Amino acid sequence: MAIKVDELEVRQGFTYQVEDGVAVITYDLPDSPVNTLSPETGEVFSRLMTRAEQQADVKAVVFISGKKDNFVAGAKIDFLQTIKTAEEATAISRNGQEGFDRLDAFPKPVVAAIHGSCLGGGLEWALACDYRIATDSPKTSLGLPEVQLGLIPGAGGTQRLPALIGVQAALDLILTGKSLKPAKAKKLGVVDEVVPVPLLRKLAIQRAKELAEGTLKVERTRGQGLKSVVEGGKKKGLAGFFQGLANKELWAEVALEDNPLGRKLVFDEARKQLLKKTRGRYPAPERALQVVRVGLESGHKAGQEAEARAFGELVVSDVSKRLVEMFFATTALKKENGTSNPSVKPRDVKKVAVLGGGLMGGGIAYVASVLQGVPVRVKDKDDDGVRRALKQVQSILDERTKKRSLTPREAAAKMALVTAGTDYSGFKSADLVIEAVFEDLKLKHRIIAEVEAVTGEHCIFASNTSSIPITELAKGSRRPSQVIGMHYFSPVNKMPLLEIITHPGTAEWVTATCVEVGRKQGKTVIVVNDGPGFYTSRILAPYMNEAAYLLAEGADIAELDKALVDFGFPVGPITLLDEVGIDVAQKVGPIMEAAFGKRMAAPKALEGVVTDGRLGRKTQKGFYLYENGKKKEVDPTVYNFLPHGKDRKSFDRQEMAERLVLQMVNEAVRCMGEGILRSPRDGDVGAIFGLGFPPFLGGPFRYVDSRGPADVLRKLEHYHDKLGERFTPAPHLVEMVKAGKTFYPR
Ligand SMILES: NC(=O)c1ccc[n+]([C@@H]2O[C@H](COP(=O)([O-])OP(=O)(O)OC[C@H]3O[C@@H](n4cnc5c(N)ncnc54)[C@H](O)[C@@H]3O)[C@@H](O)[C@H]2O)c1
Repeated sequence: MAIKVDELEVRQGFTYQVEDGVAVITYDLPDSPVNTLSPETGEVFSRLMTRAEQQADVKAVVFISGKKDNFVAGAKIDFLQTIKTAEEATAISRNGQEGFDRLDAFPKPVVAAIHGSCLGGGLEWALACDYRIATDSPKTSLGLPEVQLGLIPGAGGTQRLPALIGVQAALDLILTGKSLKPAKAKKLGVVDEVVPVPLLRKLAIQRAKELAEGTLKVERTRGQGLKSVVEGGKKKGLAGFFQGLANKELWAEVALEDNPLGRKLVFDEARKQLLKKTRGRYPAPERALQVVRVGLESGHKAGQEAEARAFGELVVSDVSKRLVEMFFATTALKKENGTSNPSVKPRDVKKVAVLGGGLMGGGIAYVASVLQGVPVRVKDKDDDGVRRALKQVQSILDERTKKRSLTPREAAAKMALVTAGTDYSGFKSADLVIEAVFEDLKLKHRIIAEVEAVTGEHCIFASNTSSIPITELAKGSRRPSQVIGMHYFSPVNKMPLLEIITHPGTAEWVTATCVEVGRKQGKTVIVVNDGPGFYTSRILAPYMNEAAYLLAEGADIAELDKALVDFGFPVGPITLLDEVGIDVAQKVGPIMEAAFGKRMAAPKALEGVVTDGRLGRKTQKGFYLYENGKKKEVDPTVYNFLPHGKDRKSFDRQEMAERLVLQMVNEAVRCMGEGILRSPRDGDVGAIFGLGFPPFLGGPFRYVDSRGPADVLRKLEHYHDKLGERFTPAPHLVEMVKAGKTFYPR
């Protein structure tokens, strides 16, 4: 039975009201925190537009959201996941395109009134309107983030955005998926006007009326705007024309984009930059580039057809599937409290104290004060440490004001949240103390006792240790249930992961509270059980060891790094070693060996390198050469400490990468088998966000599933026979293969 329009309208959350000759269509998808798009949405909207078209007293339309802080977040992603074939996805794209083409050609003016996130299909919707008015709220952001899910905009966005703001600016958004704040969106011409939140609806209606009456004419300065500027010139005489001419940037861009040679230059350069970043691993941005080009060379219709086909193919591609799964994994994580008991509530953290103002402590002070937004008290053992911490927070704020993501006044207000000293004053009222002093169990025990003497009974003690078991730390505490690990990554303000470590006695409310704190600090948080190296450091250790084994066997440093970058890691293992500090990495070796035996023993290959004082970037002397802080080529003299001359060997890049990756993956499976990880999902998120495991492969567990556990097992056995004990397959993997299981449901 066909559903009556009104019923569908209500179910989809649409309301239609005529005010002063303007039809205001409000979208408020029921039972959902945000508005998303599905074919049903399109159908209802189209019927409402027909109504607006037919009603003679309606002169214009305003489209607005009924959500508090969201316009339209994009397509309904779980719906995309149900699509089975490329043809099906292409058909859906064509449908969306037709809907927005109709909106574009609508005989009455349509205004999009935007507050909150206006992303993906939401922005494509707005782009098909005649006028876009956005609020100046920090909640408002506009963008086409599809590439981040391995997709491209599929409802005309690849065609309308370049037409509106010019190819270069549009590519910058489409190929990166980044979003714009209102002021920047206005500057680029994505929106026509920015207004305060309370005025949005009123002004949108007013603009709709003005457009209908002809008292408001849209004059844009780029892309499609060129037409109106030139036409404006004709209409308004020379003043309008010169206004257009004065925009030098516009003409430079048009000159480039309007002739085939210039166009070729723009696209070739964009492709070059892109491949440098994606190394051919992420097809979506490349397809987006092609599709934009088709539109520019062969027109809107051909461009949209190319868009629909590319969209269809990408929706069913493995890369997109992995990226979408990762999106869902992080979304699900955001809803959890980190314990197995969903009813446990986090407690309020109104003040944070940080111990140690070094590299990590300074970063933690920043995320706690600026992002979490609470007062922070830092204590270091000396004035230098105090100064270092304050300076670190200040310099991150300075960088942000330079980039205009904060005003100087806002930055000063944030800075005022941080105070520091060399004693425990200010600790009494702290709800959470995060410790980042030197990596030394005795020192940390002493500090726990000192902190417990000056803080309230309910204060949580979190350690940022990278290797000391939390169970050991808790032994030095009078309130062990309030001791937990909060393992941040360096640089703290940039790295997205926080690994929280619980020991068997950690109270659930403590875990839930720290998870909530981490989230407020902008982190993706995983909770793991205690064990040497926890999860991330533990799986990194055999990976790095394998790199050292390869060097000991005579591998070439630059080739080894390239092998892993080709595989999809952001940097190679030897570059990473230089970054972390070769001495630091070397200290981890014995700890891991003591805990896990010979299979985790670090090869002796690097001892000579450290003895030579090559500690990596921090000493400007490591495997690579450094010039004014910039990494250059491999330092040839480092081979004095490694196999050289005829002892050097050439290895296949793929084999080198496989050896390292299998070590990491096998260790991750061990962590799963031993209960360090709560789920393969957490293991995948941790490896991607903490260690740079290639996102397009979906993490170690997705990698095993897509290669097939039996195949991975065979490969490990092969290396075990060839290279020895360290490749012993994880018992959990053997069990899984026997039982014919995969980590995720098939
Ligand atoms: N550097 C990293 O990449 C990294 C990553 C994750 C975890 N960690 C862990 O974080 C902790 C700190 O590492 P870091 O790199 O920031 O070291 P760091 O040497 O830069 O800083 C340590 C700071 O602690 C201060 N300190 C020492 N004793 C103190 C005391 N009794 N009271 C107050 N302050 C004291 C020192 O003065 C120094 O400022 C270590 O446990 C380390 O294992 C480091």
